[in-house]
Amino acid sequence: MGRLAEDIRAVRERDPAARSLMEVLLCYPGLHAVWGHRLTHAMWGAGLRFPARFVSQVVRLLTGIEIHPAAQLGHRLFIDHGMGVVIGETAIVGDDVTLYQSVTLGGTGKERGKRHPTLCDGVFVGNNANILGDITIGENSRVGAGSVVLQDVPPNSTVVGVPTHIIYREGKRVLITDPREVKDPLSDAVIAVSQRVEELEAQVRELRGEQARIHEQHPLTAEELERLRYRQERNQRRDYVQMGEGI
Ligand SMILES: CC(C)(COP(=O)(O)OP(=O)(O)OC[C@H]1O[C@@H](n2cnc3c(N)ncnc32)[C@H](O)[C@@H]1OP(=O)(O)O)[C@@H](O)C(=O)NCCC(=O)NCCS
Repeated sequence: MGRLAEDIRAVRERDPAARSLMEVLLCYPGLHAVWGHRLTHAMWGAGLRFPARFVSQVVRLLTGIEIHPAAQLGHRLFIDHGMGVVIGETAIVGDDVTLYQSVTLGGTGKERGKRHPTLCDGVFVGNNANILGDITIGENSRVGAGSVVLQDVPPNSTVVGVPTHIIYREGKRVLITDPREVKDPLSDAVIAVSQRVEELEAQVRELRGEQARIHEQHPLTAEELERLRYRQERNQRRDYVQMGEGI
């Protein structure tokens, strides 16, 4: 009974839309899915593997949330809205975790054994986020909506993106200034572009230095300077007609 009460309290604390006990009891499929999982987890533990799987599919039909009976869930898990949430067989979810709709705690399809993520206490996962593989999301970390997490996330951090990168760590903003820190399929292309830009900047600096040296050695006459200024101005305006243009 104590556990049911703390589940209800967790909903009321974390969702400002939850106004009454009746509303929480009847309108929160996340709560029903967690309670359903408690039953199927006990059945699974008692060796009733197929019945546990079958009941979990009935719960999925009713709530839109699929939790494998073998998954280990902590206290006060709150699944808000819920539709499309999938929690895999070897996933471990700590206490006070919040998940939004369409979150997947799934496998990468490449591993056996422990192949689903571990979410430590206090983790928050935004809607449509995919956390894939045997990775760990550290305590009190937040995963942004729509993210794809493929690597461990340290505690007290916020990650976003596909695949994710850290934007906050221990309350401080983390800015990416070096493209080598971004790890995704486009990284190599971005790194190549940034290296080319660095090379071109170096060439421009070199040319400017050379130009300045030439100026020092051969200063332009007043007439040459006047002509140069006129040409530069003319090139910027581009509102004149070249001989032959427009005929
Ligand atoms: C990840 C999240 C928790 C971060 O919130 P926050 O700490 O307030 O972060 P900020 O708003 O300061 O954003 C910091 C940067 O990350 C970017 N960002 C935030 N969330 C992002 C996301 N989900 N995906 C990509 N980038 C994101 C912001 O654009 C901002 O970038 P900028 O500084 O270059 O402009 C939040 O954005 C989020 O995704 N919450 C999930 C909400 C949700 O699922 N709601 C469902 C309701 S039904």
